[in-house]
Amino acid sequence: MTELKSSIDFTKIDKILSDYGYEKTNLITVLQKVQEVYKFLPEDAITYIGDKIEGLSPATVLGVATFYAQFSLEPKGKYEIKVCDGTACHVRGSLPVLEAIKEKLPMENGKMTTKDGLFSVETVSCLGACGLAPVVVINEKVYPQMTPEAITLIIDTLMKEEGR
Ligand code: FES
Repeated sequence: MTELKSSIDFTKIDKILSDYGYEKTNLITVLQKVQEVYKFLPEDAITYIGDKIEGLSPATVLGVATFYAQFSLEPKGKYEIKVCDGTACHVRGSLPVLEAIKEKLPMENGKMTTKDGLFSVETVSCLGACGLAPVVVINEKVYPQMTPEAITLIIDTLMKEEGR
């Protein structure tokens, strides 16, 4: 078993593991609960879970975490921007909206969160609000009928609120 030195509080993970009986059949739920705590799945947490659940390895847990879109291996931003790219939103212009966001918030290659940790951006499938397409959700707030101009203004406002 690997002894980890980490900034992570493993007692929280132990509690989750014990709540779910250290069972590998509960792996998805365990990962969901750990993600609720940290807002993403830290690498050390994945290694720890892989070591603690019998019949699993850190590599297997990492494989599961990367397979499912619901899990994030990167910290999310203070503002989580979700751009719907379901059919209705796509047809009504979600991609130009996404492009406008990316232009406004440059990110390192392959990353979904800005360096300052303020914003993260992801595309999601239909949010069930097709009548309002194209839809963007920032944290829990729904922004209907987005355009590149409108989303740029919204981000400007949030940045101003954050003193940027
Ligand atoms: S396709 Fe975007 S809300 Fe349905």
